[in-house]
Amino acid sequence: MPNSSLKHILTVEQFSADFISTILNEAAAHQKNVQAKGGSKKLDSFVSTNLFYEPSTRTSSSFAAAMYRLGGQVIGINDVAYSSVAKGETLEDTIRTLEQYSDVIVLRHPDKGAAALAASVSSVPIINAGDGTGEHPTQALLDLYTIMQEQGKIDGLTITMVGDLKHGRTVHSLSKLLNHYKVTLQFVSTEDLSMPEDVCQKLTNPMTRFTDLTSALPTSDVVYMTRIQKERFKDLDEYHAHKDDYVLSENLMRLVKKTGTIMHPLPRLNEIEQEVDNDPRAAYFRQVQYGLYVRMALLAHVLNGGER
Ligand code: NCD
Repeated sequence: MPNSSLKHILTVEQFSADFISTILNEAAAHQKNVQAKGGSKKLDSFVSTNLFYEPSTRTSSSFAAAMYRLGGQVIGINDVAYSSVAKGETLEDTIRTLEQYSDVIVLRHPDKGAAALAASVSSVPIINAGDGTGEHPTQALLDLYTIMQEQGKIDGLTITMVGDLKHGRTVHSLSKLLNHYKVTLQFVSTEDLSMPEDVCQKLTNPMTRFTDLTSALPTSDVVYMTRIQKERFKDLDEYHAHKDDYVLSENLMRLVKKTGTIMHPLPRLNEIEQEVDNDPRAAYFRQVQYGLYVRMALLAHVLNGGER
């Protein structure tokens, strides 16, 4: 195995420059392959489990599609309410069970650190598909791939993250992953939903904080909008007070560079008006597609390219 190889995918902090470039290159190869002939048989006879304790559309279906397009099969537990979790089974025992059937487990869980806990008892690779307000490392890789595709480079860009930076795991992972590049970060949020201090302390790129979206747009090459994470608020009134904090409207798009890229991990609620979707700078549905190729690369990587 090359020295860039990883068993579990838990946090972007594990990723070396070598690993990142391997995954991005492999993703590009999978993109070509899927577009030319639908995929390959690399993971023929491999089985993955999608174990999702929180709702998901894109992450669970792209991991499933990635497995299928590599010739593998998927056990889909996309609602743990219909599994023995509902009877009170622990995460550890659920993992000890599912590892008997599958070669890799893709886990989403509401608790920060759950993926690391799962990895500590698992003999098969665990892929963190979001652990509460912690991280979403595979999303960060697909975000990076998207920026490469849309902007043709990463170094030198000004990347603006907007919205619920406190609870949003995608921005926690992406901002740290960008340590491998020379970028300028702009964080747009209200004071109480700002990027957590423990994340900021790990960032090596210069960052500026804004509370006003209009001031941050003109200098941005990438505008990464995020959803206010309703499920993380103890007090729903507080959520309602925030839900329209930042809305990217057709009108505001006039402030964005002609060469700018608009991203969003999705699901989108009010943060981006539907009218923006027709703008060529709106990249969020292309971002969805790129997720497939990056997840094909990740699955093939943790499964050693299909070599037993
Ligand atoms: C994100 C998540 O689950 O963290 N969705 C995703 O995986 N694309 C973002 C969100 O839920 O707001």
